[in-house]
Parts: sequence; structure tokens; C-alpha cells
Amino acid sequence: MARKIGLITSGGDAPGMNAAIRAVTRYGVSLGYEIIGIRRGFRGLLDDDFVTLSLRSVSGIIDDGGTILRTGRCPETKTKTGMNRAVKTIKQLGLEGVIIIGGDGSLAAANAISKHGIKVMAIPASIDNDVCGTDETIGYDTALNTAVEAIDKIRDTATSHDRIFVVEIMGREHGFLTLDVGIAAGCEFVIIPELKYDINKIAGELRKGKERGKTSEIVAFAEGCGSSVDFAKKIEKLTGLEVRVSNLGYIQRGGRPTARTRILASKFGYAAMHLFHNKKYNHFVGITEGKISSAPIGKIINKNKKINDAELKLLRKLSI
Ligand code: F6P
Repeated sequence: MARKIGLITSGGDAPGMNAAIRAVTRYGVSLGYEIIGIRRGFRGLLDDDFVTLSLRSVSGIIDDGGTILRTGRCPETKTKTGMNRAVKTIKQLGLEGVIIIGGDGSLAAANAISKHGIKVMAIPASIDNDVCGTDETIGYDTALNTAVEAIDKIRDTATSHDRIFVVEIMGREHGFLTLDVGIAAGCEFVIIPELKYDINKIAGELRKGKERGKTSEIVAFAEGCGSSVDFAKKIEKLTGLEVRVSNLGYIQRGGRPTARTRILASKFGYAAMHLFHNKKYNHFVGITEGKISSAPIGKIINKNKKINDAELKLLRKLSI
């Protein structure tokens, strides 16, 4: 009888999750495992919602955004009853272990499940890139490119009208995506939760920028910093200049994964399966200084990833 492994995509979807599903399935099946896809995140374990993944059922998905397994947030896994139910289902299904693809919340759930004697592997996937222990998460590069492309377009209209734009970017309570978007789109300022800012100073700098002949100025504003609309109103009042707001929202989560995201997802999926097969359980995979890495999941739970200060300085230096 084939050894069975469960595969879950959980939390917010991220482009490239499908490429990871394909990698786990293709490599897993070739090693002799049966891969059981658990649908709609951990909820599938509570609702008995499964599908067997075959070599061919993952054909033609490497370039698709979203996740063929669907996903969701499942607060029940934080309760004793929900967790017990999920563990019971894993045992009833005869799963040898579960591979979880998701962000920090999903990795915390994976860690909690491992405490019940279930063998888990975790693959970081999130557009926020806020998972500790990896330089990059699946989906991040795609979201970054989507946001930069959107700001390039906003720049055209901002320049035509001599306007300031405040562009709101996702990232929950972190500013990794906003900072990189800011550098890549040549934004004048980034507002991120990790950094205190002085609105009077920013307004003053924006005014000075205009005086230096800038035709447009763009502030990349992380969603975790509160209301971008209120921020824009204050800037308009302080500068006396015309300010518009654009919230990029959920377009950042969709779309075809970039080649970089697909390669990362393929490497992560392969590495997770490889580690599992070699009995290195309860680990997450990551990429560190260009190399695929792994470490026990417990090491990254409740840890905060640090913003790169040099990048912040770079943005300000180049936006004069
Ligand atoms: O974690 C990914 C993310 O898109 C965050 O950037 C955002 O804050 C959150 O998910 C939105 O969550 P939901 O899909 O539950 O609205």
C-alpha cells in the first residue's frame, strides 16, 4: 500500500502555490507516496474535503495564480476541539504526515499540529514576505511585480496632473512588500509599520520636491499603518498640493506567478518532500542567501523578521 501524505494550502492565497503543489505531488508520487490534497485549508480536515492528487491532475497549473486546492483561514484550529478534530481526521485518513503551504499563521498551525504527534513540513507562501527563516516566500516576487507595474501606471497620471499619490500596499502589520515596491517604483517615501514617521517632515520634503521640479511624487503606504485616506488628507492640508489615493488591494494576491516565484515554489516543494522522505520532520524550508535551507518550525514561530535599514536609506538617497 502507498504511503500517504496530506497537502494543504492555507491562509491567504499567494501566486506560486500551484507550482509548489505540483512539485510536492510530482516528486512525492515518484517516491511512491499517495498525495492527498486537503481542500480549503485546514477546514478540509474538519469537513472531510479531500482529493487525491495524481501526476496528471497537477498538469498545466505551474502558471496559474491562486491554488487548485483552494484555501482559507480556519480559526477553529486555534481551539482544542478544532485541533483534536483535525488530528483525528489525519489519523483516520492514515496520513503519515502533512505538508502545509502558507504564511506565518499557517506555519503556527503546522507547529501546533506537530505537538500532537503528527509529522509536518512547512512551505512558506505569502505575498507579505513576513515569515522568519527565509529571505523570500512564495508569491512575494509576483506581488512585488504586480504592485510595481500598477505604480508605473499611476506615475503616468500623477505626472500629467502634477499630483502626489498615496498608494496603499498590502502586508498586514509588516512593510517588506511596501519597501521593495517603493525602491522598484522609485517612490519618494515609504510609510511602513516598522518605522516611526513625522508627517510634518514628510509634507515638507514633498513640498521641497515640487520646488526642485518634481512633476509627481508617490508615497508607498503600508496597510498596517492605518488609513491611507486620512494620511493623504493630512498631506494635502500640510502641503497645499493635490493628493490622490489608490489602494492596490487584492490585485496583489492574484495573477500569473513570475518565473522567479515558480522556481522558488518548485524548489521549496521538492525540498519539503525530500526532507520528509529522509525523515527530517517538523521542519520548514526557506531560502537563505540564495541557498535552499531548512530549520525546525518551532524556531520561527512568534519571531519577527527585521526590515533592511540599508534598503530604506537607499530609497531616500535615490528619491531626491
Ligand atoms: O497575508 C496576505 C494578506 O493579503 C495581507 O497582506 C492582508 O492583510 C491579508 O492577507 C488580507 O486577508 P484576507 O484575505 O483575510 O482579507
